[in-house]
Amino acid sequence: MAFKLLSSLVALVATIQGAIGASPQLTRRVTCPDGVNTASNEACCQLFAIRDDLQKNLFDGGLCNAEAHESLRLTFHDAIAISPALEAQGIFGGGGADGSIAIFSEIETGFHPNIGLDEVVEKQRPFIERHNLGVADFIQFAGAVGASNCPGAPQLAAFVGRKDATRPAPDGLVPEPFHTPDQIFERLADASNGEFDEILTVWLLVAHTVAAANDVDPTIPGSPFDSTPGLFDSQFFVETSLQGTLFPGDGPNKGEVQSPLHGELRLQSDFAIARDNRSACEWQSFINNQTKVHDMFQFVFHDLSILGQDIDTLVDCTEVVPVPKPFTGTTHFPAGLTIKDVNHACAETPFPVLPTDPGPKTSVAPVLP
Ligand code: HEM
Ligand SMILES: *[C@@H]1O[C@H](CO)[C@@H](O)[C@H](O)[C@H]1NC(C)=O
Ligand SMILES: *[C@@H]1O[C@H](CO)[C@@H](O)[C@H](O)[C@H]1NC(C)=O
Repeated sequence: MAFKLLSSLVALVATIQGAIGASPQLTRRVTCPDGVNTASNEACCQLFAIRDDLQKNLFDGGLCNAEAHESLRLTFHDAIAISPALEAQGIFGGGGADGSIAIFSEIETGFHPNIGLDEVVEKQRPFIERHNLGVADFIQFAGAVGASNCPGAPQLAAFVGRKDATRPAPDGLVPEPFHTPDQIFERLADASNGEFDEILTVWLLVAHTVAAANDVDPTIPGSPFDSTPGLFDSQFFVETSLQGTLFPGDGPNKGEVQSPLHGELRLQSDFAIARDNRSACEWQSFINNQTKVHDMFQFVFHDLSILGQDIDTLVDCTEVVPVPKPFTGTTHFPAGLTIKDVNHACAETPFPVLPTDPGPKTSVAPVLP
């Protein structure tokens, strides 16, 4: 017994020494001017106060609320507005994650796919004004901190040092829910120089697990895309696979198709990508695989958040983003629905076996600010 204890102690010390030896930066942390926090790079010190301000005054003390969802959506709409294809024709193609959506919000929030984002841009503006971070860095950081409030989310990347936009992005670069899978796959591939293929497009759409729509059907603002918009889980992938049976409001609206649950809104683009034979198996593979939900979104957000920027000029401050609580629930069919209600689109793999929530059919509550 004593020997066993001693040997595991020796092993532990060796592990710690190994870790320190492998990562010399662990031993060279700076103490921040606030006297409280330490950071791997002093450029990260400013983020602690911004994080705390956001948590207290935008995210209601650390909730996966409507503002957290909107802040995550904003990261995408800023970053995706970049087009090497336009540049190849001699046309300015936007700067990617350059803050242009907030710096030139008068112009860009008027673009049709950016409908509703004027609200979160204006909610974020006072935070940008009272801190000293670049706008491009701020938008991506706010999205990462917002997402961290959703149990099951990964700790998303945070970088400091992006170049802010000097001109607005052109219109036409942000995907719309009425676009076809072909249009969306082509747009995301262009924006990322081919990196975001059909598979990585599915990874990016993991974000819709903490999402709702305010403007697709304006008669029912805050209609979520799954029954758990406060959890970064795989429920979105389950529920988008179910047969649509109803419009939750006054649909059909442009970009909307029937959903399986009262109160839930389904985007035509999510419906189509879930069933397209290039993406259906990848879509299904997220169901009941929380590790995959966590890891794949962490990976793609990192790359999304620096589109148009040179990573070699950026400082990695991810350590300032809170580590989210784990997801502890069970992936399930909503009450009243079973495997019989699934549109099984992946020919290769059977649909996962899932329990059905007990009780009578329920409806999903809106996410209101
Ligand atoms: C690729 C095609 C995509 C399309 C067509 C699309 C479309 C939409 C639409 C129409 C809405 C509802 C907006 C409203 O009416 O309020 C929405 C919400 C949202 N989207 Fe996407 N989206 C896409 C990809 C993404 C990606 C890659 C992200 C990742 C950051 C993302 C994050 C969100 C979030 C978090 C919301 C919820 C916003 C809220 O609750 O207020 N979307 N999306
Ligand atoms: C995928 O679907 C398209 C049209 O729906 C069809 O032309 C194509 O052959 C299918 N590909 C595979 C691999 O099943
Ligand atoms: C979950 O996804 C990961 C990553 O793709 C994969 O390696 C693993 O086998 C999956 N787990 C299950 C239980 O399907």
